[in-house]
Amino acid sequence: MKILHLIIFLVNIFSIISQSPDQLYDELFQAVQMQRIFSDTKTFCDVIPRELTPNEILLLYRNEYNKSTFNLTSFVLNNFILPNITIIVHEQWTIEEHCHRLWSLLTRTTNENYSSFMDVPYPFIVPGGRFREFYYWDTYFTMLGLIRSNETQLIKNMLDNFAYLIRKIGFIPNGNRYYYEGRSQPPFFSLMTELVNQTNNYRYELELEYQFWMTKRNITLDDGTILNRYYDEFHDRPRMEAYFKDVQLANKINNTNIYAHLRAAAESGWDFSSRWMENETDLSTLITTHIIPIDLNCLLYHLELTLGKIEQAKYRQQAIQKYMWSNERKFFFDYNYIKKQLTNRLTLAAVFPLWLNVATKDQAQYVAQQIEFLFLHDGGVVTTLANQSSQQWDYPNGWAPLQYITYRALLKTSGYESLARIIRQRWMNINERVFNNTGKMMEKYDVIDTNKLAGGGLYETQDGFGWTNGVYLEMLYDNNNDPQLSI
Ligand SMILES: *[C@@H]1O[C@H](CO)[C@@H](O)[C@H](O)[C@H]1NC(C)=O
Ligand SMILES: *[C@@H]1O[C@H](CO)[C@@H](O)[C@H](O)[C@H]1NC(C)=O
Ligand SMILES: *[C@@H]1O[C@H](CO)[C@@H](O)[C@H](O)[C@H]1NC(C)=O
Ligand SMILES: *[C@@H]1O[C@H](CO)[C@@H](O)[C@H](O)[C@H]1NC(C)=O
Ligand SMILES: *[C@@H]1O[C@H](CO)[C@@H](O)[C@H](O)[C@H]1NC(C)=O
Ligand SMILES: *[C@@H]1O[C@H](CO)[C@@H](O)[C@H](O)[C@H]1NC(C)=O
Ligand SMILES: *[C@@H]1O[C@H](CO)[C@@H](O)[C@H](O)[C@H]1NC(C)=O
Ligand SMILES: *[C@@H]1O[C@H](CO)[C@@H](O)[C@H](O)[C@H]1NC(C)=O
Ligand SMILES: *[C@@H]1O[C@H](CO)[C@@H](O)[C@H](O)[C@H]1NC(C)=O
Ligand SMILES: *[C@@H]1O[C@H](CO)[C@@H](O)[C@H](O)[C@H]1NC(C)=O
Ligand SMILES: *[C@@H]1O[C@H](CO)[C@@H](O)[C@H](O)[C@H]1NC(C)=O
Repeated sequence: MKILHLIIFLVNIFSIISQSPDQLYDELFQAVQMQRIFSDTKTFCDVIPRELTPNEILLLYRNEYNKSTFNLTSFVLNNFILPNITIIVHEQWTIEEHCHRLWSLLTRTTNENYSSFMDVPYPFIVPGGRFREFYYWDTYFTMLGLIRSNETQLIKNMLDNFAYLIRKIGFIPNGNRYYYEGRSQPPFFSLMTELVNQTNNYRYELELEYQFWMTKRNITLDDGTILNRYYDEFHDRPRMEAYFKDVQLANKINNTNIYAHLRAAAESGWDFSSRWMENETDLSTLITTHIIPIDLNCLLYHLELTLGKIEQAKYRQQAIQKYMWSNERKFFFDYNYIKKQLTNRLTLAAVFPLWLNVATKDQAQYVAQQIEFLFLHDGGVVTTLANQSSQQWDYPNGWAPLQYITYRALLKTSGYESLARIIRQRWMNINERVFNNTGKMMEKYDVIDTNKLAGGGLYETQDGFGWTNGVYLEMLYDNNNDPQLSI
C-alpha cells in the first residue's frame, strides 16, 4: 500500500503543470482584471480557451494589443468560452423535493481542456452561483444532505477526490482550481470520513493532512506551546479571483502585506469578518495571520483524536484552555499571538469547543447562555455581534454551517437542548420563507430582518446552494425524527 502511494506521488509530482490563470496569461490576465472587463474578477479565472492554446492566445495578444483598433473585450470574447453562473430554475417542487433534486444540477466533473480546474477523478458537488468548483469545508455540510438523499456513492467519490489531492499536493485545497493552490480551508476531512464510517480507509491521507497543518500552519508561542493559524503559500500576491479589489486595497494603504491577510482569511472560510480585523469598519486593518483561531484548533484536536494522537490532543486541549478561554468574559476567543492577548471579538466560532468536546461542562454552560442572550435572533443565530462592518461573515448574516454546529453543540449541552431546537426551527423557517418567495435556497440569510432575502457581503447572494441544502435536509430529518417536536 505505502509503496503504491509513493509511486502515485512521484508520478503526480511530475504531472503537475501549474495552470493558474495569472501564470498562463501574464499581462493579458492583468489587463483583463485591472480594466474590469468582467464585473466579477472570478469570471476570467474560470474561462476555457476556444481554439488556441493559452500560449498562442498570449502571443496573439502581444501582437495585437498595441493596434489602434484593438478591443480587449472583443479579444476575450473571441478567444474564450465564458463560464456560466449556475441558476437554479424553480419548478413546482416543495423545498424538500428541491433540496433532494438539486444535487444532480450541482454535480460536476473536471472535463475541460486548459481551464483552471484541478483535475480530480470523480464527480463532485459545487455550491452553485459563481462557485463552479468544489469547496473544502462546504463539502462536509453538503454531505449531511447527501446522506439524507441516499447519495452515499457520491460522498465516497468526493472523499476519494480529497484523498487524491492530498496525495498529489499534500493538502486539500480551498477549491479545485489552480488559483486556490496556495491554501486550504477549515480541516473537516476527518469529520467527513466519520459521516460514512470510512475513517479507517483514509488514515494515510489524514496523517498527511495533519503534517500539512503542523508544518505549514504552526505557531510556537513563547512558552513552547504549539498552536495553528491560517495562512497561504502565495502570501505575496493578490488573490487571482479577487484581483482588482485586492490590488486596489493594497494600493490604497500602499502595503502589499495585506495580501497575506486577505488570503489567510479566505483559508479560514470566514472571508471576510470583523473577526480578522483590528477596526471592524476598515478591511485594510486585517491581521488574519496574527491570529490563532479557536475553530481551527478545535478541528485539529478532532483530527488528532481521529489519528490516535492522544497526547497531542490532550496538550492542545490544555493550550486552548490556557490561551483561548476568558475567565472574565466566560467565552472562547481567538488569540492574537503578536499582541499576546485575546481578540475579544464575540463570534459563533466559540461553539466549536462545545461541539468537538474541548470545553468543560461549565464552559459549555456559559457559552450556551451567551448564545441565547446575544446571538439568537428571529432567523437563527447571528455570525458575530459586529453590526457596522458590512462584511458578510458578520451581523446580520447567518450561515448554514454555523447554524448546524451551534445546533449540535447546544443539543449536547445540558439544559440547552430546547434552545438547540429553537435554533433549528428558526433556521428552517427562514429557509422556507425565502424559498416560498423566490424558489431558491441561498448562500446566507439575514437572521435579524427575516423579511429580507439576505444582506451584506462583498458579492451578491448566490443561489444553489450546497451547504444550505445539506443542512436543511439534515435538520428536516432531525425534526421529523425528534421525539420532542413541540417546542
Ligand atoms: C506599445 O505601446 C507602448 C505605448 O503605448 C509602447 O511603449 C510600446 O513600445 C509599444 N509596443 C510595441 C510592441 O509596439
Ligand atoms: C469593444 O467590444 C465590445 C464587445 O465586442 C463592445 O461592446 C464595445 O463597445 C467595444 N468598445 C469599443 C471602444 O469599441
Ligand atoms: C455557458 O452557456 C452557454 C450558453 O448556454 C454555452 O454556449 C457555453 O458553452 C457555456 N459555457 C460553459 C463553460 O459551459
Ligand atoms: C480535450 O482535448 C482532447 C484532445 O485534443 C479532445 O479529445 C477532447 O475532446 C477535449 N475535451 C474537451 C472537453 O474539450
Ligand atoms: C432513502 O432511503 C430510505 C431507506 O431506503 C428511504 O426510506 C428514503 O425515502 C430514501 N430517501 C430518498 C430521498 O430517496
Ligand atoms: C455509521 O455508523 C453509525 C453507528 O456506528 C450508524 O448509526 C450510521 O448509520 C452509519 N452510517 C453510515 C452512512 O453507514
Ligand atoms: C513549524 O514546524 C516546522 C517543522 O517542524 C518548523 O521548522 C517551523 O519552525 C515551525 N514554524 C513555526 C512558526 O513555529
Ligand atoms: C509606499 O511605500 C514605499 C515603501 O514601503 C515607499 O517607498 C513609498 O514612498 C510609499 N509611497 C507612498 C505614496 O506613500
Ligand atoms: C476605523 O475605521 C474608520 C474608517 O473606516 C475610521 O473612521 C475610524 O476612525 C477607525 N477607528 C479607529 C478606532 O481607528
Ligand atoms: C450595534 O452594536 C453596538 C455595540 O454593541 C450597540 O451599542 C448598538 O446598539 C448596535 N446597533 C444596532 C443598530 O443594533
Ligand atoms: C411555505 O409554503 C408552504 C407550502 O405552501 C407552507 O406550508 C409553509 O408554511 C410556508 N412556510 C413559510 C415559512 O412561509
